[in-house]
Amino acid sequence: MGTVAASDAPAVDLADPGFWQLPAPARAAAFAELRRLPGPVFVGERSEARAAGRPAKAPAKGYHALVRHADVVEASRTPAVFLSGPGVTTPEPARWVRLLFGDSMVNLDDPRHAQLRRIVSRAFTPRLISRVEDDIRRVAARLVDRVERERPEDFVTSVAAELPFQVICNMMGIPEEPRRAILDQVNHASEHTGVARPLRSRIRVPGRGLRALARMQGMVADLGRERRRRPTDDLISALVTADVDGRRLTGRELGAFFSLLLVAGVETTRNALAHGLHLLTAHPEQRALLLGDLDRHLGGAVDEIVRHSTPIIQFRRTLAVDHRLGGPEGTLLRAGEKVVLFFGSANRDETVFTDPDAFDITRTPNPHLGFGGGGPHYCLGAHLARQEMKVLYRELFTRLPEARSLGGPDLVPSSFDHRVRSLRFTF
Ligand code: HEM
Repeated sequence: MGTVAASDAPAVDLADPGFWQLPAPARAAAFAELRRLPGPVFVGERSEARAAGRPAKAPAKGYHALVRHADVVEASRTPAVFLSGPGVTTPEPARWVRLLFGDSMVNLDDPRHAQLRRIVSRAFTPRLISRVEDDIRRVAARLVDRVERERPEDFVTSVAAELPFQVICNMMGIPEEPRRAILDQVNHASEHTGVARPLRSRIRVPGRGLRALARMQGMVADLGRERRRRPTDDLISALVTADVDGRRLTGRELGAFFSLLLVAGVETTRNALAHGLHLLTAHPEQRALLLGDLDRHLGGAVDEIVRHSTPIIQFRRTLAVDHRLGGPEGTLLRAGEKVVLFFGSANRDETVFTDPDAFDITRTPNPHLGFGGGGPHYCLGAHLARQEMKVLYRELFTRLPEARSLGGPDLVPSSFDHRVRSLRFTF
C-alpha cells in the first residue's frame, strides 16, 4: 500500500474551500471514494495558494488524509509516533490563538500531557460527575420551562448552546455576571477555526477579542488563587488543590484549561444536540422507537447521533519518526510529515458499520470515533457529553413529545466541525 499521489486521486480536493461548502451527502460520497483508494491521499496546500490568487506550485506542505476507521485508530493509539505537540488544528491557528490555547492539553505530548491529564482527570471523578448530573437536570428543566413559556424559534441559542455552557460554568464555579460576555467571546474565538475559507478567514481578530479572552483567562486565574486559599467543592478548587506528582495547575494552565473546556465542551455538545433533534425529526420511525421506550433507547440514540453527525470533523498529528501505517507492508509516512484524522469518514467506514449512512439508534456495537480514536487524547468530556444529551432529550421529549425541527439546520461551512448556526423548532 502506498501513498496516493494527488494526481492519481479522484477529483476530491480536501484543501479546496469549495469542497467544505458542498452538501453533506456529496462530501460523504467523496470520502467513500477516498476510503476505496489503496492508501491515504496526500493533500497539498496548492489549492489554498490558488484560492488566494497566488500561482499554484507543487505542494511543499500538506498532509496525508486518514479516512479509514483502522488508520484513525492506529494514529490515535500510537502517540509516541503521531504527535499532537506541533498543534492539532488545520489550518494552523493564528498566533494569538496559540498564545492563549497553546498550553492546553490537546496540543501536548507526554510527559507533559500525561501529567496535566492526571491532574484534570482528578476533577472528573465519579463523585464530581454525579453532582454534575443533578445540575444538568436542573439546567435542562429550566431551559424546557423557558421554551414552554417563551416559545423561542431557534433551538441552538435557546437550548443547545445554553445547556453545555451553563453546566461547565457551574462546574467551574463561574459567577453569573460575566457569563454572557464569556459565551460571546467563545463563539467569536471558535468561529474562525477551520472555517472553509482558509485565507480570508485568517481574520485578524480585533484586539478587542484578544483582550476579552485574556481577561476571561485572568478572571479564572484569580478565581483559582482565591479557591486555593478557600477551597469550595467546585472544579476550580479541585484543579488548584489536586496535587499530582507534586504538581498542581498554575494560574496560566488553569486559564488555558478553562478555555479548552469551553471550546471543546460547548460547541461540540451544542452541535450534537441540534443535529440530534434534526435527525430524530427526519427519521420518524427512529423517533417513534425512541419515544416509545426512552430508558431502553436513549443511550444508543445518543451514540448514534454522535456517530452520524460527528461534531468534530478532524484533528491533525505530526510524525515523530518514519512509520508504516497498517503494518510492515503499509504506507510509509516520513518523520515530520503531517496526517489529518477524519473522524467523520471513519464513522462511515463500510468495513466497520453496516449501512453506514443509515441513522439507526439500535446499532450494536457502535464503535464510532466521534469522541476520538482512543489513546491518551480520547475526549475527556465524553461521559459528561453523553450525560448532557441524555438528560436534555429525556426532559424535552417527556414534557414536549411533539418537539421537532422545522426545515434543516442552518450549517456553517467548516472543515473543522459540523457546526449548526441555527435550527428552527416547534413543539
Ligand atoms: C458531543 C460532544 C463532544 C464531542 C463530539 C467531542 C469530541 C472530541 C474529540 C474528537 C476529541 C479529540 C480526541 C482525540 O484526539 O483522540 C476531544 C478531546 C477533548 N474533549 Fe471532547 N467532545 C465532546 C464534548 C466534550 C465535553 C463536554 C468536554 C468537557 C467539558 C470535552 C473536553 C475535551 C477535552 C479536554 C479534550 C482533549 C483531551 C486531551 O487532549 O487529552 N469534550 N473531544
